[in-house]
Amino acid sequence: MTRRGFTALTAFSAARVAGANERIRAGFIGMGARGDRLLDLFLAAGAEAAAVCDVYGPHLDFAASKAKGARRFKDYRLMLDDPSLDAVVIATPDHWHALQFLHACQAGKDVYVEKPLSLTVAEGRQMVEAAGRARRVVQVGTQRRSSAMVREAVEFIRAGGIGRVTAVRACDNLNEWPLGIGKQPGAAPPPELDWDLWLGPAPAVPYNPNRGWYNYRWFRDYSGGQLTNNGIHLVDVVRWALDLGYPRRIAAMGGIYAIDDGREIPDTLEVLWDFGAGALVSFTQYNANDAPANAQGADLEFRGAKATLYLRPDRFEVVPQRVAGRVRYRPGPLHREDTRAAWMASRKPAAAPKLVRGTATADLEHVRNFLECVRSRREPNAPILEGHLSTATCLLGNIALRTGAMLEWDGARERFPGHDAANRLLDYQYRAPFTRPS
Ligand SMILES: NC(=O)c1ccc[n+]([C@@H]2O[C@H](COP(=O)([O-])OP(=O)(O)OC[C@H]3O[C@@H](n4cnc5c(N)ncnc54)[C@H](O)[C@@H]3O)[C@@H](O)[C@H]2O)c1
Repeated sequence: MTRRGFTALTAFSAARVAGANERIRAGFIGMGARGDRLLDLFLAAGAEAAAVCDVYGPHLDFAASKAKGARRFKDYRLMLDDPSLDAVVIATPDHWHALQFLHACQAGKDVYVEKPLSLTVAEGRQMVEAAGRARRVVQVGTQRRSSAMVREAVEFIRAGGIGRVTAVRACDNLNEWPLGIGKQPGAAPPPELDWDLWLGPAPAVPYNPNRGWYNYRWFRDYSGGQLTNNGIHLVDVVRWALDLGYPRRIAAMGGIYAIDDGREIPDTLEVLWDFGAGALVSFTQYNANDAPANAQGADLEFRGAKATLYLRPDRFEVVPQRVAGRVRYRPGPLHREDTRAAWMASRKPAAAPKLVRGTATADLEHVRNFLECVRSRREPNAPILEGHLSTATCLLGNIALRTGAMLEWDGARERFPGHDAANRLLDYQYRAPFTRPS
């Protein structure tokens, strides 16, 4: 299929409505690491894998060996032409999500789309609107939203269980020093790979193994780096727990300090968001040191006035703060040690400790929830708007890093007032002939 032929295709079709007892017929786009896992999960949840699509032959072959009888495609547009598909699952690299999603909406398919929702803020906004117009059921792959344990933690925080939350820290540490992904010489693309179609709307560059499977996360043309890769799962829970919309101010610092492998994303990063809600939210990414961020080994900590809630992949723990029953300084000799000691001694735990075990990554529940919603037409646990706001919150962090500015954000307009350089990073020019449908 040539690129000219690719854009000439149209993919409008009427939405099929699955009967209550019928298996949902799903088509899968992107059969790499995540696509393979999602294929297993959808089969386990009772869906029919009716079609599989990849631009790399061996991944397609492997998927087809599991999805018995599935139609095979290199070009997802041809797959979308199949009116018998109820839903599509998008697990391609991030730079493909928007285009494939918009075409899937046009074709009347419900969509399970992997996180991050999009590569740019403008893409995400367009995806939200297209899904709404086409009345599509959309689940974003932020599967913590389907975890009973995470929901319990969120509800505990929302009910005031840890008191007023003033700071939340998210962290994603991994020691990749010294080699990272290694420097790879350029090479001809493997014959089974359609490199041009892998690149799609991204700029044309010669093939390099580092830009291919999985490692594309280290390059800005295809990914927002670890902030939108792992960070989004955490940022999404923070927004959910504190009922946050968009941040108002964003600052970031970091860089490639230690790892010399040709990557473009930082190996060390700190992002700060002020949501105007009286809580400071931060994300730390250390890729040249993996010491845990806290004694609890948690990647997410909610610091409340009564307690700290540490959320880990397999548990959450509430560690009470000690607070004084009376104000600290009453009239008198403020500097005296015994006054201070008495005050310290008067402090009592303000909350009960709590330990809840479970699993944060509720992959199967998330897929089941999507399939239920495809039938019921209800909104899934990770709706597209939340996926967009969490993705965009991360993308704003990257824009703050790249501009080196402390940015003000007008969430209603999705613009940085008076900051042209930052506004330019809200979208990018697709490589011809790829264009987003309006
Ligand atoms: N929710 C989660 O926990 C989770 C976990 C891992 C990955 N992901 C997301 O899943 C997505 C894929 O990640 P991955 O690790 O599987 O990457 P990957 O590189 O292993 O797989 C991507 C696949 O997409 C294929 N592809 C590329 N362009 C295509 C196109 N135009 N049409 C069809 N196929 C195409 C590639 O050949 C490859 O097989 C990413 O967006 C990632 O963020 C989510």
